[in-house]
Amino acid sequence: MKITIVAGARPNFMKIAPIIHAIQNNKKQGKDISFRLVHTGQHYDKNLSDTFFEELEIPDPHNNLNVHSGTQAEQTGAIMIGFEKELEEFPTDLVIVVGDVNSTMACAIVAKKAHVKVAHIEAGIRSGDLKMPEEINRMVTDSITDYFFTTSQKASENLAVLGVSKDQTFFVGNVMIDTLLKNIPRLIKPTIWNELALINNNYYLLTLHRPSNVDSLNSFTDLLNLIVLKSKGKPIIFPVHPRTKKILEKSNLNFKNLHYVSPLGYLSFIYLVKNAKAIFTDSGGITEEASVLNVPCITFRDSTERPETCELGTNFLVGNDKDKIDYAFNKLDSDNWKKGTSIPLWDGKAATRIIDHIINIYNG
Ligand code: UD1
Repeated sequence: MKITIVAGARPNFMKIAPIIHAIQNNKKQGKDISFRLVHTGQHYDKNLSDTFFEELEIPDPHNNLNVHSGTQAEQTGAIMIGFEKELEEFPTDLVIVVGDVNSTMACAIVAKKAHVKVAHIEAGIRSGDLKMPEEINRMVTDSITDYFFTTSQKASENLAVLGVSKDQTFFVGNVMIDTLLKNIPRLIKPTIWNELALINNNYYLLTLHRPSNVDSLNSFTDLLNLIVLKSKGKPIIFPVHPRTKKILEKSNLNFKNLHYVSPLGYLSFIYLVKNAKAIFTDSGGITEEASVLNVPCITFRDSTERPETCELGTNFLVGNDKDKIDYAFNKLDSDNWKKGTSIPLWDGKAATRIIDHIINIYNG
């Protein structure tokens, strides 16, 4: 059986790594399974893409569509045109898409129109916030997916409410956590650690890249001022995403304890997550990693598609609500943050389960 795997943007790479390794293991055991990896080129900077391939031992893509940046429609359209040619030239039995980026939705549409089955990994999660392009990508992808692999019971329930049959829904756990657990012994101390003489549990790690937080100079400035004020002089390490860099270049925001760095590779980024006193973020994936590593996490969003990170993990949503922000920082300052508890099936074996299900589906 031939599988085409799609990856386009940074958060996809940690999700495809364990899938590819599970396919390779099955192939070694003599199973009739092979894959083609297609990189759409949505992310193309070395430190958003190549570094992840090297560190996570992902083989070189068989095809790179090299779409690069553009508006939502330009990027989605370019990915669709490139992926249609890919499927014409290299027919396949199944297309696997992961997560919720533009590449996920664009390739799912193309595959379905070419009558190729689609498997969506991380299906069924919903924030309800249609202002985020990712929510639209999730809804469209799930409306045409054939096999839904979910990270939580809640995601499976969301799909059931939409009328997806139980036979097509597989609660398998979280491939991102497969990658996290596998790589904990390989983490790399980033050079900034010694440069800034960082100490375990005595610095904060900040990531911001959502359009709602970083596309308006005023709200971005307010948010940074607030975070710096609340951090009371503790070092804050801020790996700056390219989208965020654009607004930083227009501003002149410098604070003594806020340290801007380039986007980090996976192994050094997780090193910083694991040892931080807390994470401040607007990402979704980082709330999962912080929860499993039991590191306090404050999320500057009003909603999450990953409620288990709040209910069972260490995540707390503050949006831009002043009372919630005060509450969260008081908890942090008094070392009284909730403890993370284990999240069902986030055990490092999700990809193995996914590939076992796929082999069963195709072998009848
Ligand atoms: C995308 C995903 C988001 C994910 C994020 C992780 C969508 C809709 N969004 O958002 O879900 O959390 O990736 O990073 O798919 N750029 C570069 N170099 C690159 C890639 C992008 O400089 O390698 C710049 C581009 O100029 C672009 C901006 O960053 O304008 C944003 O990139 P884009 O891929 O459009 O969306 P992200 O904000 O990265």
